[in-house]
Amino acid sequence: VHEFGIEDRHALDAVASWISDRLSHPEKIASLGGVQHVSLPTVSATGIGIEATWEVLRDAILPTAFPTDHPRYLAFVGGAPTPAAVLADAALSAASVYGGSELEAGAVVAAERAAVRWLCDIVGYPQQAHGTFVSGGSMANLSALVAARHERVAAGRPMPSIIVAGAGAHASVAAAAAIMGCTLVQAGPRDGALRAADLAPVLNELDADDVVAVVASAGATNSGTVDALDEVAAACASHRIWLHVDAAYGGAALLVPASRPVFEGIDRADSVTIDPHKWLFTPFDCAAVLYRDPQVARAAHRQTADYLESAQDVGTDNPADYAVHLTRRARGLPVWASVVANGTDAYRRAVESCLSTARYAAERIAASPVLELVAEPQLSVVLFRRRGWTPTAHQQWSHDARSHGLALVTPTSFGGETVLRFCFVNPRTAPLDVDLVLASVERESRPGGSGG
Ligand SMILES: Cc1ncc(COP(=O)(O)O)c(C=O)c1O
Repeated sequence: VHEFGIEDRHALDAVASWISDRLSHPEKIASLGGVQHVSLPTVSATGIGIEATWEVLRDAILPTAFPTDHPRYLAFVGGAPTPAAVLADAALSAASVYGGSELEAGAVVAAERAAVRWLCDIVGYPQQAHGTFVSGGSMANLSALVAARHERVAAGRPMPSIIVAGAGAHASVAAAAAIMGCTLVQAGPRDGALRAADLAPVLNELDADDVVAVVASAGATNSGTVDALDEVAAACASHRIWLHVDAAYGGAALLVPASRPVFEGIDRADSVTIDPHKWLFTPFDCAAVLYRDPQVARAAHRQTADYLESAQDVGTDNPADYAVHLTRRARGLPVWASVVANGTDAYRRAVESCLSTARYAAERIAASPVLELVAEPQLSVVLFRRRGWTPTAHQQWSHDARSHGLALVTPTSFGGETVLRFCFVNPRTAPLDVDLVLASVERESRPGGSGG
């Protein structure tokens, strides 16, 4: 008898039906996130059994999270996975797939390659481009920057030590610089697009040989701003500097023909990050790092060891070879399953719907006598404030909206002021949800605010 046998399948069957119910009703929230004091069973010598454990998960633990696919989860960058993606994700765990090499993962690798290819096509990358899926945008950015540095060193140039990034770049770029022992030099405005004119004085000042890469954002997290990629790409090309484009959040909008012009030049980047777990309807955690020349990345990342040789003979482009990892979850499988199941038209429509909800919100805010639209949204982030409210009043409203189960909407800072921020990445979020939230901001009078 196996120690961990499942003589009783009841709990596992119950999970399957719970998954169906949960995905049918993402708007149901039992509780509102935040710190919760739940009394959990303790670890014991005998264990409590799979059924009892499932009951604790279902009734005590999972309901304490504010689900990111709730239609009024509008904070940070959420995620709303499709049923097909969840199905593939669950099956992936059950199938015990080691996603590092083709020797072990078989056609799972082929499916992940197809998902990588789909993303490369969206970016407009040539056929030779390739990449892999990692845990998140942070790992994707780090992996790309490590590849950029390796390219320099492999070409016999001195080890560079500076990463240049737009001031609106995600915090993970600063983290990557710190991990790599590099200095981060920021260029351009914090709350606006990076342009070649911002970059020129910085690059002219630096020795190009000492620059690992320039990082531009295609959808800054705070504001949704897309940097002037074509101009930045031209500046990088003239200095022979690697360009990494962080499209972790915004890359999904490439699916929408009307949005593509804003991304012009993204195909000139040496590497691109796009996170399917943000706006491409895949469960956490899943981010793609894509390389125009994958051999450079492979040379940087491929781990070699005597015991790995047999795995390396089979696949020439094992997914393990393209990022900072060896053992990995085959996170691209849910991406592939979801796109194959739903089709690219449904994907385009879903992203379009988020963009259109963002436009609706912006217009609704601009038309309100008590609200102020802080910036025209470029993608699906909408920033606004209640006229006359202090920072504390905005924070208090956000806290109350969460505690009353209305919405998760968090404040941020833009242009030095506290504002509220919506980020639309869930096609289930409807104009009615926006109305409900905005009506609450309009209605409330706050201490420290002008009331009304
Ligand atoms: C533009 C951008 N880059 C990188 C990241 C980091 O991604 P992750 O949280 O998946 O590590 C984020 C996260 O929101 C992001 O918006």
